[in-house]
Amino acid sequence: MLALEQVLPPSASVSPEGHLTVGGCDLVALAETHGTPLVVYDEGLLRATARAFAEAVARHAPGGEVVYASKAYFGLAMLRLAAEEGLSVDVASGGELYAALRAGVPPARIHLHGNNKDAAEVAAALEAGVGMVIVDNLDEVALLQREASARGLVQPVLVRVTPGIDPDTHRSIATGQVDSKFGFPLAGGLAAQGVEAVRAAPALRLVGLHAHLGSQLLDLSVFPEAAEVLAGFAAEVGAEDLGVMDMGGGLGIAYTREQRPPGVEEFVETVADAVREAWGRRGLPVPRLVIEPGRSMVGRAGLTLYRVGALKSIPGVRTYAAVDGGMSDQLRPMLYGAVYEPLVADRADAAPDEAYRLVGKHCESGDVLVSEARLPALRVGDLVCLPATGAYGVSMASNYNGQPRPAVVFVDDGAARVVTRRETYADIVARDDV
Ligand code: LLP
Repeated sequence: MLALEQVLPPSASVSPEGHLTVGGCDLVALAETHGTPLVVYDEGLLRATARAFAEAVARHAPGGEVVYASKAYFGLAMLRLAAEEGLSVDVASGGELYAALRAGVPPARIHLHGNNKDAAEVAAALEAGVGMVIVDNLDEVALLQREASARGLVQPVLVRVTPGIDPDTHRSIATGQVDSKFGFPLAGGLAAQGVEAVRAAPALRLVGLHAHLGSQLLDLSVFPEAAEVLAGFAAEVGAEDLGVMDMGGGLGIAYTREQRPPGVEEFVETVADAVREAWGRRGLPVPRLVIEPGRSMVGRAGLTLYRVGALKSIPGVRTYAAVDGGMSDQLRPMLYGAVYEPLVADRADAAPDEAYRLVGKHCESGDVLVSEARLPALRVGDLVCLPATGAYGVSMASNYNGQPRPAVVFVDDGAARVVTRRETYADIVARDDV
């Protein structure tokens, strides 16, 4: 039986030869065909998760909207999949907007985010006809008013509020606290000023509020807390034109066997009930719920395969196992101290009785993928799988040390298709040919 059941996609299994399989595809064979590092997504799980969110919202917040936070993984295949499954898509930059439009996401279902949208990004969004702009600050209200009025448009907007709630997660991915670069804090009356500024802008139409508390949240108690604060704010500024409450994303996933994240259903129910009750207590009409899941939509469905190229035992110290990727394709361990649990894809049923430090191939000591890994005795050529790398891996990848970014493959029902080709060395220098 698989030790990492909670972390791998439910379709994961071990073949009679001891190979790890996902979506009916042998990962050893996939790595041989497509090379490594290789990112593999279980397409069936991506679709099932998208549906689970949509169904849970239909059940607990009828008329609500699920907006996929594309920063988690903005490959065109994923954006297309999100659109096919009826989800909306949130983009946080001109680049993500371009990708969503290229993927055919209907513009009315695109939500534009960003704490420093520039004039070109705003113009592109307005010209495409995006359904929603989430305004972050007063300078943006002025910019948006100018650009929308110049085009004779009236743009629906949400005002992003920082509710002053500090979730239990890594500093770099907490966003709900007052001291944040995002949104209008309730503190000091800034959020009320934001609402008033939008109401006073003739080319903007206020439709509601937005709040994103943070990411990789395993404890949902911050949502009722935030809903209380936000409903209080809505009552204070007048809720007539605040018909939408976007509660952001944040649902965590299991990266290690001990973690037990809440499920999609529990998350949606908690958030929907929190909003309904907080608004209800104040006698306000319940707003239409919007949520923006990113990590929980794609994290568990993706995994990364690496080839072991070198082993080094330092007596009395430790054994290093070096693989053919690292911080160029997996920044989370280095940025947030994120812990992953690897396994060996070519001997998935072998006992993990050796200790390794799993490192990448980059020219710095901080290029550590897994500091304390338990794996079966490794051999050069083994295929190491890092599960739960579907979110913020590919989307934060770089060309550090001239490393080409990995290919991405979708697997489903025993079939695999390349959705992103591996980068070439020529790609890496292409922009310098000026
Ligand atoms: N909505 C907004 C406005 C956001 O800023 C984010 C994430 C989301 C939704 C989606 O949150 P999720 O459901 O994925 O937690 N690179 C970091 C994560 C940064 C999250 C940024 N904002 C990481 O790898 O952990």
